Amino acid sequence: MNILVTGGAGYIGSHTCVALLEAGHSVSIADNLCNSKRETVDKVKLIANKEVTFYEMDVTNAEAVDVVFQNHKIDGVIHFAGLKAVGESVELPLDYYYNNIVSTLILAKACLKYSVNKFVFSSSATVYGDNTVPFVETLNLLPTTNPYGETKAMCERILTDIAKANPSFSVSILRYFNPVGAHESGFIGEAPNGIPNNLMPYVTQVAKGKLKRLRVFGNDYPTVDGTGVRDYIHVVDLAEGHVAALDHLTEGVHIYNLGTGQGTSVLELVNAFETANDINVPYEIVDRRPGDIASCYADASKAKRELGWTAKRDIIAMCRDSWRFETNSKE
Ligand code: NAD
Ligand code: UD1
Repeated sequence: MNILVTGGAGYIGSHTCVALLEAGHSVSIADNLCNSKRETVDKVKLIANKEVTFYEMDVTNAEAVDVVFQNHKIDGVIHFAGLKAVGESVELPLDYYYNNIVSTLILAKACLKYSVNKFVFSSSATVYGDNTVPFVETLNLLPTTNPYGETKAMCERILTDIAKANPSFSVSILRYFNPVGAHESGFIGEAPNGIPNNLMPYVTQVAKGKLKRLRVFGNDYPTVDGTGVRDYIHVVDLAEGHVAALDHLTEGVHIYNLGTGQGTSVLELVNAFETANDINVPYEIVDRRPGDIASCYADASKAKRELGWTAKRDIIAMCRDSWRFETNSKE
């Protein structure tokens, strides 16, 4: 299939482009590079040893999107492009609502105009809010605490309504848990700007000596050791989940958790990182981070049952591959 990947120069998008190319699909990327670099597209081509068409463009620009649909006979769209920093979304709600929602509306409209019936959307476990773990797709969604999370819940709703009204439009909504790790080549991975907010990139920067020590946000949660529990998933497993979702896409709306089903606490992750890489990660316990929940992990059985997909890479592989990418990067 010819797949349009929006946000394909980004962290998850680039790994998914590699997986798509390796599975025999053709890929066009549309990305405005607001949170990524052009070189990543070259690295994708290098890893897969295949060509990719790259459009440096904003997917909130309806005319530019139309040109892409005119230029290619597109079979499906995977829509990764979006702003994703939770804290920033509280400061800049208009930018977040505009970018994440308008891009989805414009792409869905182009799909209907050009009879492109396959649409895969990047959602997040954040839509579950502070529900009871494990999170299963049938749970009623609880309010999220920030505009970023709201954009994901709203886009899910918009795509569901469009699919109801247009029976041939097939939508797969993928709720990611906590993507970490990097391609085993060490060529592509997550390179956040500035001081990272998320745990794994913070840990790798402490290990490298760029940051002094990890601050563990709270050790009084009702979890195995009092620290927050999350479902970390290797980004290459996540990428393969997209290929499976696309291959199995049938009419209607299908929602899948993409996680391992396994919870790991902050201190368990730090231990795994130290073991995997034989390196010390200094840390201190500090207050809880506002807005955090105690535990978040997936019931991943629906994706296994319907897509034949499960995550294969364990926490040690996630830590090893994250570290390899960090040590490969020049900064
Ligand atoms: P990322 O920032 O690395 O990638 C997003 C890409 O989209 C970037 O390359 C950016 O330049 C591009 N982009 C943003 N707005 C655009 C626009 N209007 N037009 C064109 N390109 C645009 O982020 P990621 O971690 O790869 O996340 C991809 C998707 O998955 C996002 O929608 C994100 O919300 C969602 N998601 C991510 C996580 C996570 O922890 N990384 C978790 C759940 C969901
Ligand atoms: C974050 C996002 C969420 C997104 C998810 C997946 C926030 C508030 N939420 O959630 O919307 O869907 O990533 O990408 O950013 N931790 C520390 N010290 C740190 C960093 C984190 O102890 O320096 C702890 C956190 O308290 C948490 C765990 O590590 O218990 C994971 O944190 P993080 O990587 O930020 O992910 P989430 O909180 O799950």
